Amino acid sequence: MTSRTLFVTTALPYANGSFHIGHIMEYIQADIWVRAMRMAGHTVHFVGADDAHGAPIMLKAEKEGITPQQLVARYAAERPQYLDGFHVKFDHWHSTDTPENTALSQDIYRALKAQDLIATRDIEQFYDPVKGMYLADRYIKGECPKCHAKDQYGDSCEVCGAAYAPTDLINPYSALTGATPVLKSSEHFFFKLSDPRCVQFLREWTAGSNAQGTPHLQSEMLGKTREWVGAQGGESSLGDWDISREAPYFGIEIPDAPGKYFYVWLDAPVGYLASLKAYCALKGLDFDALLDPNGTTEQVHFIGKDIIYFHALFWPAMLKFAGRKTPDAVNVHGFITVSGEKMSKSRGTGISPLRYLEIGMNAEWLRYYLAAKLNAKVEDLDFNPEDFIARVNSDLVGKYINIASRAANFITKYFDGALAYLDTAQGDTAALSAEYAAAAEAARAAFEAREYNRAIREIMAIADRINQAFDAAQPWVLAKDWANADAARRAQLQDICSRALAGFKALSVMLAPVLPELSRRVARELFGNAADFVWSDAGKLPQTVAPFKHLMQRVEPKMLDDLFEPPEEGPQAAPDAPATVPGGESLAETIAIDDFAKVDLRIAKIVNCEHVEGSTKLLRLTLDVGEGRHRNVFSGIKSAYEPADLIGKLTVMVANLAPRKMKFGVSEGMVLAASHADEAANPGIYVLEPFPGAEPGMRVR
Ligand code: 2FM
Ligand code: ZN
Repeated sequence: MTSRTLFVTTALPYANGSFHIGHIMEYIQADIWVRAMRMAGHTVHFVGADDAHGAPIMLKAEKEGITPQQLVARYAAERPQYLDGFHVKFDHWHSTDTPENTALSQDIYRALKAQDLIATRDIEQFYDPVKGMYLADRYIKGECPKCHAKDQYGDSCEVCGAAYAPTDLINPYSALTGATPVLKSSEHFFFKLSDPRCVQFLREWTAGSNAQGTPHLQSEMLGKTREWVGAQGGESSLGDWDISREAPYFGIEIPDAPGKYFYVWLDAPVGYLASLKAYCALKGLDFDALLDPNGTTEQVHFIGKDIIYFHALFWPAMLKFAGRKTPDAVNVHGFITVSGEKMSKSRGTGISPLRYLEIGMNAEWLRYYLAAKLNAKVEDLDFNPEDFIARVNSDLVGKYINIASRAANFITKYFDGALAYLDTAQGDTAALSAEYAAAAEAARAAFEAREYNRAIREIMAIADRINQAFDAAQPWVLAKDWANADAARRAQLQDICSRALAGFKALSVMLAPVLPELSRRVARELFGNAADFVWSDAGKLPQTVAPFKHLMQRVEPKMLDDLFEPPEEGPQAAPDAPATVPGGESLAETIAIDDFAKVDLRIAKIVNCEHVEGSTKLLRLTLDVGEGRHRNVFSGIKSAYEPADLIGKLTVMVANLAPRKMKFGVSEGMVLAASHADEAANPGIYVLEPFPGAEPGMRVR
């Protein structure tokens, strides 16, 4: 197979909110694809960015009394914990509010203008005289002209569903100030999508295929775009696209048009290019060569079904007529629903990605679950808690992980880690190797086609067969009375365990795009691979295996309850009580050393500490216990410390305390502190600090 170069993106999230589970689903879908392509030896540049511009961000920042840049920076700072947490590995994360994006957006605009594809027209629009600002439809409210429902938005009525223009509203008012808007005329800039050249190009592009022979759009999407651009020789309903906004606006200035800015949707997709360009500069890559319109790089976008208009029409046309490379594939996914319904925070069916991680759920469970359900169609994906538990516990752990623990233990115990295969009538080693190579190729193809559910189905069918063969050979019978076992029986036990482990290795290769951390451990720790798995490893039969180490926990059903439980209202949960010592307090009952050993005390570094809004007692500590992730712990020590006093200090924590959900979030442990029993009369709380030299993660015994 020849090596390909790919430029892959996911939709750029608006920088005025935290990631929700829909974002994470899209990133996981794309990340799996990228990993599968890389495992085949292709070069992939996978980039994202914050979509920083537009009126909502400007207005939100204004409300908070900060600059839009500060607001964007705040959300940008949050991104890594989500992405790292779910093992989503972008090569670069950028922003649309950057010099690269300004230059690229303006260049593209100038090129379109040179093609005579930019027009100007005066349009009349509602204007808020108090705010001094033109109002987008969502900022205008009024009475529905049809059913007379009050307080409806400027574009459609939520009560009767009627669609209309804001000027049709009865008694319109500005949602920003309440002022009555006035109609005011201003000059707007349009991208002439109705130009016959654009229509012709879009008819071809939407129905076209890339160099791999894969259609640019899924068939459902092609159908949708046909409604807009019409068939060859038919009618097009494409109108020109208004790409300008009046000041005040947080965006990119239109060249030679003072006070006019690009509409955010003009510069947002250009942000894909800006992110790649910034990445190229960092890596010494040639951006222009990479995106040469006649070159071979494949440009692939992953997006949701709500933004196809922009990606399947405006974006390819912008690129085409600016003389740039056009997309090779726009891969559209549906939304995520919960137990068959649209997610809703108030109904307690919202899934917060951070909460998922905070309560200790494994990111790879979600990756596996999503993979088991995702396909290449534009279908919604339903998250169903029972289904989640079943797939993770029965399939992932029960079928796949189990193979390794069962077979490796025999090999370690009786063969000192050495594998050996017999050439039997059921298949010689060459056939075994060929079988797994072929299975891996089928999985690779399914991943490339984004038929992840098919890949997982086939992978689990192989796991079933491996388990059946293993059980049928009854290794526990072969291992009986080992001292007296003859060479043939020994060789047979070694063979069936080796075959099971060769199968386990092949499955781990096939699951590597979905379970990157687990497969990395399997590669390195169990099979001694120096590198992460690539597809060709599946057919390479392992010759040794290291002693089995625990690989993956089962989901506890209770975790799913915690995931959905609506945030606790009412009285504040008691803060973690500081540990106490005698001195007015009688000694607790005697325990054995084993009881003490159950408490896993660790040195923790306080990497961050902050006040908890609404709590008079708690501080929120971010602790590093050397696990490669941070823990969130609430501690009732606010009366004694300022956050700044604690940041950077070492302390001691109970690291194996079950996570506890408190009003303000989940507490993942407890920090040790000394205090008097009668704290009210005898105030003073003293957080424990180890002698110098202790390091995060060390056990305290
Ligand atoms: O719908 C959204 O969330 C947009 N911020 C997506 C932009 S995708 C690309 F064009 F930047
Ligand atoms: Zn109505």
